[in-house]
Parts: sequence; structure tokens; C-alpha cells
Amino acid sequence: MIVDSILTNAKAYLNGKIIECSIAIEEGKISKIGKETQMPKTDEKINVQGHLVLPGLIDEHVHLRDEGKAYKEDFSSGTAAAAAGGFTTVLDMPNNDPVTASPQTLRERMQLAQRKILVNVGFYSEFPSRTQEIADIVAEGAVAFKLFMGNQIGGLNLDDDSALQEALKKVAEQKVPLAVHAEDRGMLATNEEKLKQAQKNGLADFQRAHTETVEVKAIQRLLKLSENTEARLHFCHLSTKEGLNSIVAAKKAQRTITCEVTPNHLLLSSDDLQRYGQLVIMAPPLRDKMQVNALWQGIEDGSIDTIGSDHAPHAASEKASSNVWEVKVGVPGLETTLPLMFTLVKKNRLSMQNMVKLLAENVVEIYSLNDRGHIQEGKNADFTIVDYRTQYKMDVSKFKSKAKFSPYHGWDVWGKVVKTIVNGQTIFDEGEIVAKSGSGSIIRRDSG
Ligand code: DOR
Ligand code: ZN
Ligand code: ZN
Repeated sequence: MIVDSILTNAKAYLNGKIIECSIAIEEGKISKIGKETQMPKTDEKINVQGHLVLPGLIDEHVHLRDEGKAYKEDFSSGTAAAAAGGFTTVLDMPNNDPVTASPQTLRERMQLAQRKILVNVGFYSEFPSRTQEIADIVAEGAVAFKLFMGNQIGGLNLDDDSALQEALKKVAEQKVPLAVHAEDRGMLATNEEKLKQAQKNGLADFQRAHTETVEVKAIQRLLKLSENTEARLHFCHLSTKEGLNSIVAAKKAQRTITCEVTPNHLLLSSDDLQRYGQLVIMAPPLRDKMQVNALWQGIEDGSIDTIGSDHAPHAASEKASSNVWEVKVGVPGLETTLPLMFTLVKKNRLSMQNMVKLLAENVVEIYSLNDRGHIQEGKNADFTIVDYRTQYKMDVSKFKSKAKFSPYHGWDVWGKVVKTIVNGQTIFDEGEIVAKSGSGSIIRRDSG
């Protein structure tokens, strides 16, 4: 037998351990793992030179934009950024122009993506105005739904408890997860209005509008509304201790509730607001150290399930206004997340096992991304290959993303991505994209 290719001299992450081995790849799958002498024949050997081979990492929280927001990011630049950042699969958020919230908008988005993507991409949809359409959107291939509670983005009236309950039932029937941006719309709008009227337009005023209570109230409301449903809620970018406590209580009550945190909310705090300015305006906002410590506690005890980058690209001019209400919220994260997390592993702040769980294994479980997340025979040949030995400086000018800004610019980090392999094909190699547009696959909901 002759296989398509073989990775040799790998230090691969297999079942929680790092093992020196070779990995044979056939038709986009891992066909054999073992010593080089045990490998089948091949015409293509890829010498990994002792670098660390991780299962292809998955970023469950990415705003790839394109369509009406292509000036911020498009499928080509966004998935190039994913490959450069070591992500072999990303899940795309629906707050697009047009909003992804119907079978048709989803279909059109998938068609446009197919020609451009470099890594695997799955799609979220917002709730449609007619809840009956939820099943049609899943049939079209959405991997999950997303509910923005902070402002009205999807078709469902956020202030209508019974409509929300109906949607929660429908999404539960479909057995797809519902990712939630938990901020209470009414409370947030009132806070913002008051501050704007008093002409309070500074950085700290943004924090004053997006209070901890704004998050906690939304989390508790949705947990309550979904109490008698089997809805699989996944709370995005958690930022408060009290929010986490509510989620932990729901987990203890045997509910299928999970949550995500971003590197921003783990590595930065409100103390950094002056230093980084508008760059770090994001929603939910950076919190004080007490909240940050609670999130770390959640990482350590396993109550936080995943890390998502919340890659939120914007044009440089959109981040520049001196009036905080005009600043677009969000930070790009695809090209910073892995080195930031890897640096924590290097500093013994996070274990390698936890990192792989948070960035791959748990994500696969929550979103049913079968055949991914583990280096095992028969699984997809998605690999993130990392130089764990050299320290380097994060540099936004090297970003493949259109959004060339980051609070982490100039930070000393470890964990440079040397190669990204998607479905057996090398996509990113030593700083360059080496594959054709359209090399990635669209991931549709597995109906099984
Ligand atoms: O910071 C954020 N950016 N939070 C959001 O909820 C939206 C996102 C975006 O799309 O830019
Ligand atoms: Zn969000
Ligand atoms: Zn987001």
C-alpha cells in the first residue's frame, strides 16, 4: 500500500501524552501512527523536525464577515488568519450583512465561502422570526444557533419571553447547541442612554454601561426560560464570577450547559484600559482582577469548557474614535490565541492537556464535530504543528487578517505555528499560505 503522505519526526500529542512518532495520511484521514520503520510506502514525506504536532485546533467563535462587511474581513483573509494561527476548523458567527438567519442567507453564505475558504468552516445561524424555520436552517447545514441578547440582531423579539421559550424548545428538538451572547438588552440600553445624555463618552463609560449585572441578568434569564427544555446552551465569552456560578449551578442540576472564555478576559483586565485604549473595547468588556481570577478558577476546576477567540475584525478607522460609543467593539484573535495560550503552558499556568481540551476536544463534543480533535487512526488528518522551542514577538504587521491591530502586539510569546495541515493537505507553511482558495471544507451538521 502507498499512502498520500507521512509526517516523520513528529512529537505528537496522543491521548494526553507527547510521543515521538510518524503519522501516515491517506485520503484526508490518519491511516497509521507508529515508528518510521513501521510506516507504509509514500511518495511524500514531510519531516516535521521534532516540532510539536497537536490535533487541529478549533476556534468555535469567529466573525469571518465577508458579504456586506468584507471591508473588515472576508472568507479568504479570515481563513488565512485561521490557518496562520493554527486553527484547522472555525465556526462562523451570524451577525453579518445580511444576518445569517434563514435557509437562504445560510445557503448563499456557504456558496460564497466554498470558493474561498482555506480551513474547515461550520456556520451558526441567528434565530429566524418564524421559529418553524429553525428545523429548515438545520437541514440546510447550520452546526449551531447563536443568540445575541445585547441588541436585536436575529429575527426573534428578544423581549418576548414566550417567543424565546418556543425557540429554545425548537432548538432543543434539533439537538444543536445554542451559543449565547449574554447581555441584557433592556438594562444595557438604559445604561447607555443615561451615559450618552450626560455626554459621558470615555473608555470607562463603556464599562459603566456593560456592567457585570448586565451579563448575570441575561444568563439567569435564559437559564430560567430554558429550564423545562433540553436546550444545549453554550454561554460565550463569560466574564463574571456570578455568571459562572449560575452556570455551575445549572451543570450541577445535570443540565447540558457549557461555557466559553476568551483569551482577552483571561489575560487582560480593566486595569489595561488606559494602556491599550479603544483597541480593547469589546463586549462583554474587560473586568477587574477579582473577576479575572474567578475565570481562572473556572479554567482550573474544569467548569469553563472552551476557549474561543471571538475573532472580531474591524477597520482601523472604526477603532479610532475618541467617542467610545462610536468605537466598534471587538478584537481580532485568530492569530494570537494559540501563542498566548501556549505561552501560559510554557509558564506552567495551564497544562498542555487543558489547552488541548479547551481548544479542541471539548469543542468537538459540544458541536458534534465528529472525527476531529484527536490524533487517532481513522480521524481527520487535521494538524497544528508548533515550534515549542523558540520565543518570538507578536507582530500585527504579519497578520493575514485584514484587521492588523491587537493589544498583544510586541508581546513575547512561545508557540509559533510552523505548519497547518487541513484534511491531509498543508495549507500554511513557514509563514506562507501554500494552498489554493477553496481547499477547506464546509462542515454541515451531522444528522446522525
Ligand atoms: O466584541 C464583540 N465583537 N462582541 C460582540 O458581541 C460582537 C463582536 C463583533 O461582531 O464585532
Ligand atoms: Zn458576543
Ligand atoms: Zn463574537
